[in-house]
This record gives sequence, C-alpha cells and structure tokens, in this order.
Amino acid sequence: METLIPTINRLQEVFQTVGTEIVQLPQIVVVGTQSSGKSSVLESLVGRDFLPRGSGIVTRRPLVLQLVNVAPQQERLKNEHGKQIMTRSMITQFDFLEIRKEIEAETERTSGDNKGITCEPIYLKIFSPKVLNLTLVDLPGIIKVPVGDQPENIEAQVQEMILSFISNPNSLILAVSPANSDLATSDALKLAREVDPDGRRTLLVVSKLDLMDAGTDALEVLLGRVIPVRLGIIGVVNRSQHDINTQKSLEDSIKDEHVFLQRHYPSLVSRAGSRYLAKTLSKLLMHHIRDCLPELKTRVTVLIAQYQARLNSYGQPVEDHSATLLQIVTKFATDYCNTIEGTARHIQTSELCGGARICY
Ligand code: GDP
Ligand code: NA
Ligand code: MG
Repeated sequence: METLIPTINRLQEVFQTVGTEIVQLPQIVVVGTQSSGKSSVLESLVGRDFLPRGSGIVTRRPLVLQLVNVAPQQERLKNEHGKQIMTRSMITQFDFLEIRKEIEAETERTSGDNKGITCEPIYLKIFSPKVLNLTLVDLPGIIKVPVGDQPENIEAQVQEMILSFISNPNSLILAVSPANSDLATSDALKLAREVDPDGRRTLLVVSKLDLMDAGTDALEVLLGRVIPVRLGIIGVVNRSQHDINTQKSLEDSIKDEHVFLQRHYPSLVSRAGSRYLAKTLSKLLMHHIRDCLPELKTRVTVLIAQYQARLNSYGQPVEDHSATLLQIVTKFATDYCNTIEGTARHIQTSELCGGARICY
C-alpha cells in the first residue's frame, strides 16, 4: 500500500487545486464467522499488531479505523472523543499495545465483560505519513448461539450490524472464510452476496490454510472451482493462537507463510499470501481512483475555460502570468492523470486471480 501513498497525495493536491474532493477511497470491511481470522487479516494489511485477537468472541464492537495521511510531524492517534491519546516523534514507533488496550477498554465500557456485543462503533483515527486515507472496519463475527450476556436474538442483531456496514456501496468486502470449513456454508460469502450479488466489491480471503485435515488441501477452492469470486480468492496463513501467545512478529509470520505456500501450493505462491492480498487491495484502490479521473478532467477543463473567459474579459492581453499559471496547472493535472492511468492500464493487463479473470 505504501507505494500508493505518494500518488494519492499528489492526486489529492490536484483535487484541491480544482476545489473538489472526488477521490473518496472505499472503506474496507472484514466479514466472517467468529474466529475465522478477520482481525488477523486486517492487522496484516496494516502491517502492525494492534487489534485484539484470539479464540472465542474478542471483537465485540465494530471498530472503524480511519487512517489519515499526514506530514511526518503530525503523526498521532485520536480516539472517538477526539481525545488525543498519543503523540510520537518521527523516530519512535507508535505504541501499538496502547492502541489495543484503548480498544479493549472501550469495548468493556459499553459491552461489559461477559461477551456482550454493542453495535455502536469505536472510532479510531490514526494520523501517520505511512498510511493511505482509508477506512478499515473490523466487525464482530457472525454468531449462531448466544453465550454469556448475549441476548437470544444475537444472530439477527449481529447480522443486521454487518449488513449496515457492507451495504454501503463504497465498502469493499473482505469475506473471510477458514479453509478448514466448507466454503459452501460460508456465512461471509452468503452475507456479501446479499448486498453485492454481482460480486463487484467482494474479495474472498481463505484463512487457516495451515489447519486443514491431513490429506486435504484448498487448491480447488483457491482456483475458484468450488465457488468463483469475481475479484479473486486469496489464501492466507495468519498467526496461530500459539504464535500470538509467544508474540511471534508479523514479519516472521509472513516469512513462514511464504515457506508454507511454497511447500503446499507451489503453483499459487505468486497469487496467495498476505502480501499478495495487500497488493490486490492496492490495485482495487487504484482502479477506483482511475474511475474518478474522467470527472477530475472535466472539472479541470471547466476551470480552465472559466479562467480563460475571465482573462478575455480583461481585454487586451497583458504580459500574461496567469496564462503561465494556467499552463502549469493544466500540465500538472494532465501529468498526474497520465501517471495514474498508465499505472492502472499496466495493472489491467495483469494476472489471473482465483482462477477467474479479475474484472474491474
Ligand atoms: P476473528 O474472530 O475472525 O477476528 O479472528 P481472529 O483474528 O481473532 O483469530 C481467531 C483465532 O484464530 C486466533 O487464535 C488466531 O490466532 C487464529 N487464526 C487466525 N487465522 C489463522 C490462520 O491462518 N492459521 C492459524 N493456525 N490460526 C489462525
Ligand atoms: Na475471535
Ligand atoms: Mg475479531
């Protein structure tokens, strides 16, 4: 994702120049049954340990994580009340453990400590030069049987909460389904289909490739032969509970994931894994931006016409600095549009994914 940041920043400058904000990046929402690996997948996307994870019900409130790209000296974190809970210098790392504690405390405050669930989201903003202006949403998992303080109708409640997030057409749905359970019974895909029947904004992530029964593998699923998924099917291996307990780093986890894929899915190494998932998401974002460009061009053209008209109304052309300025703005905008389009075109000629052609 980091390679996208400079491009988007420049593009946003152009947007500001023409006084508009057309590029609104989609929010990425993870959906799946409890303990399918949703929080783990989000973490590997952000590249940091900061989400509460674990067996049983851990995510009990929606977490709306707004990543805001800022200049290095403005890096900070705010919670939902806008209270600044941390500052950091450019060199030291965020204390991601603190972020996790904040999320856990907020969860307990509204949801109690006995497995209760609240639909009211926790909003967390991370201001950093290393992130895209992007919103990630971590959701409680789909639950079948109430436990602890959960009400009888917990399944319906959670389902409704999930639908309220994923029915937003600007949501990109990451449906997470564990490899050790039958894809045909995937609640994640079922819900995703309800709001996105054509599969235009659903990506299937098959987690827990390492936990399949001996003698079975997920090859057919990953190739899209069981259920085809338009945007792709990506297999991943996240950290196990033991890895979490022994504080295995995300970096080591990604190395081991690669080794695992090489050994068990040699034909898919270049199209599976957490890194590939991040790359695929970047591409999807790129295409989203590309789709916004025609409107940007129109605005620039209109603006130029307006300035031209104003210049003309001044009568005799003065030795004209505004015209030069205009040229600069135009060139600036056109250059960046071309850059983006070039990249997007390059991406479009790219690979197969999950057996089906990625169609954007
Ligand atoms: P969530 O409830 O869907 O958010 O799932 P979590 O990310 O909290 O993960 C639930 C449990 O499954 C944790 O103990 C994780 O360590 C474990 N887990 C998640 N993904 C994988 C995986 O790919 N392989 C293994 N072995 N364990 C996983
Ligand atoms: Na869990
Ligand atoms: Mg979770």
